[in-house]
Amino acid sequence: MEKKQLHKLLEQMTIEEKIGQLVQLTPNFFEETDGKGEITGPLMEWGMSKRELYNIGSVLGTHTLSQVHQIQAAYLKNNRLGIPLLFMADVIHGYEIIFPIPLALASSWNPELIEEIASISALESVEAGVNVTFSPMADLVRDPRWGRVMESSGEDPYLNSLLTASYVRGYQGDADKLNENFNKIAACVKHFIGYGASEAGRDYNTVDFSDLVLYQDYLPSFEAALKAGAKLVMTSFNTIKGIPASGNQWLLKDVLRNDLNFQGLLISDWAAIAEMIPHGIAVDKKEAALKAVSSSVDMDMMTNCYQSSLKELLKEGKITEDTIDQAVLHVLQLKNDLGLFEDPYRGMKGKQQKTVTFTESIQSKARELAAQSMVLLKNKDLLPLDLKKTVALIGPKATSQDILGAWSWVGKQSQAINLKDALKKEYPDLLTVETDSLTKITANEWETIKRVAAKADIVVLALGESSEESGEAASKATIRLPEAQEQLVKVIKAINPNIVTVLFNGRPLALEEIAENSSSLLEAWFPGTQGGPAIVDILVGKVNPSAKLPMSFPKTTGQVPIYYNHMSTGRPMTQQNKQEKYISKYIDVANEPLYPFGYGLSYTNFIIEDMKLSATQLTENTKIVITVNVKNIGKIVGKEIVQLYLHDISAEIARPVKELKNFKAIILEPNQKQEVKFEITVDDLTYIHSNFKKSADKGFFEVFIGTESRAPKIAEIEYV
Ligand code: GLC
Repeated sequence: MEKKQLHKLLEQMTIEEKIGQLVQLTPNFFEETDGKGEITGPLMEWGMSKRELYNIGSVLGTHTLSQVHQIQAAYLKNNRLGIPLLFMADVIHGYEIIFPIPLALASSWNPELIEEIASISALESVEAGVNVTFSPMADLVRDPRWGRVMESSGEDPYLNSLLTASYVRGYQGDADKLNENFNKIAACVKHFIGYGASEAGRDYNTVDFSDLVLYQDYLPSFEAALKAGAKLVMTSFNTIKGIPASGNQWLLKDVLRNDLNFQGLLISDWAAIAEMIPHGIAVDKKEAALKAVSSSVDMDMMTNCYQSSLKELLKEGKITEDTIDQAVLHVLQLKNDLGLFEDPYRGMKGKQQKTVTFTESIQSKARELAAQSMVLLKNKDLLPLDLKKTVALIGPKATSQDILGAWSWVGKQSQAINLKDALKKEYPDLLTVETDSLTKITANEWETIKRVAAKADIVVLALGESSEESGEAASKATIRLPEAQEQLVKVIKAINPNIVTVLFNGRPLALEEIAENSSSLLEAWFPGTQGGPAIVDILVGKVNPSAKLPMSFPKTTGQVPIYYNHMSTGRPMTQQNKQEKYISKYIDVANEPLYPFGYGLSYTNFIIEDMKLSATQLTENTKIVITVNVKNIGKIVGKEIVQLYLHDISAEIARPVKELKNFKAIILEPNQKQEVKFEITVDDLTYIHSNFKKSADKGFFEVFIGTESRAPKIAEIEYV
């Protein structure tokens, strides 16, 4: 439909029909027309009329194509102007086939992989009638106590931005062709903004950081998503400078709409508009609606603030019809971008929902991609496993189907392939002891564990969390594994020190005990439907691990928040002064994490040598080319991710001790050497100044190149 036709349609709409378009509800409203809801928010008192129900703009949380078609057909029959419904869902890391959680996918440091996964997810979602996914989650995260780190791409703005843009491209393809590319869906980047900085890692808690930190660390991933064409933005639950995001005019109008020039659909998070009341900035739903609509929030997810108040606010002159029209046009424009006016079923009318998932090719693709997300944290010498050895698989996650992780939408745990079934394919005589609980081990289990551990040459220990222990509303005050699991590794070590520990978890954990007592340690995260086979491909060496941590693993919870791109402070601890008293350190633990950002081992080894710079000075019109040679000095082919970090030695605003600026993945055969080239331009030197403008200061920069964030300094360059 032409844009002007949208305006004509708007002119035909009554104010009730306009307001209806700004409301999003769950499917149960249509399935139980008595309007009975449950979930969060005050659905029960709503008692919406059928007419109002058939005026709403969108439904979230459908599960099947037939459900979508049933609702859409009934809706179109009852909607006076035949404006189609928009269907949205949380397709976060797959639809039916579940890929590893986003924090695992980020460990691949592979934008192409992310784009491919998002593309497969879109394909399946379209087949299920979904038009929009509430993804990518672009929140920068630095606190593993927060359960939603599992949905993120980690602690670095550069990596987060790259991967967030990849999700958008994978879901949407060409953002201007969603009305013809019916195998693509619209992306809703979330949560705007700062949700990952919830104080103490406690979900929904207060967020407070400076404008500079906002622009420097938290905005880049949203800018990248919008640059990639993301069609929607979702507000976050938290306050920014004391005002909840959904009612924050500065944040949404000045920053998002003006600075970032976002003119698309802005939707609140679930009940976030009504939650301005408990936040203490609205006395009732009417005031909450006023603050949200005045901040240009277009759609009200799962409350009746807009439904019950906008008409009255209009009558009282507190808002103009133009404000409502602007929001309605954002909704109609998105429906038009998706081609819904021409085809409310986007090519699926009369079709059966088939699962594209369970084709052989997609399953093997999922297995291949999952293996790229697993980080080898320690490996004395047990991996890859010797197939001639007697192996025992022990632990609470040994046969667990709970390996999909949170936000697995319609993915079924029953369709996941667990570690035991996969490992048995390689070890038909596999000994297995599955402990029932993640938090305790019975006397009988202990007896069997000790016996089996003594019999085996090698013990594969499967430990971790349940998927409910991360994700939304799953914050933890301590991030160690349960005592019983730490006990397990110690007891087994006393019997058989050949322990390969595999971790299933949705956040960085404090692993000192586990790491100390394991000979090898593989971070498998929640690896998804093909998790078992992917882990085994790594354990037996069919795949050489290459993943790198996107988020620091602390030694202990007390170090949190801990991240590599921290400030120096006036009294930084160094190798030389670490015994001194008056420096920035703890007296009871070290400053460093157990495993740093960018870290991950391989079954082979690489050296980086022959570093050369084309110059040691650059101007705003010149660049410095750095070349290094990377050599595989091991016995098997492997992939290394060579990382470039910079440190601005003296700037207007204190700069992080290191900032990731670029990385290159290379695959090398044994003894193969390859040149890797990085270019540094003035763009790599810029940062947000106190005037909120991005620019670079003349002066010196340290250059670090390596295979993780503890990369050594290789040179100093000067911007002149
Ligand atoms: C939730 C989440 C958000 C999700 C939305 C819809 O509360 O915060 O990420 O997309 O509701 O399910």
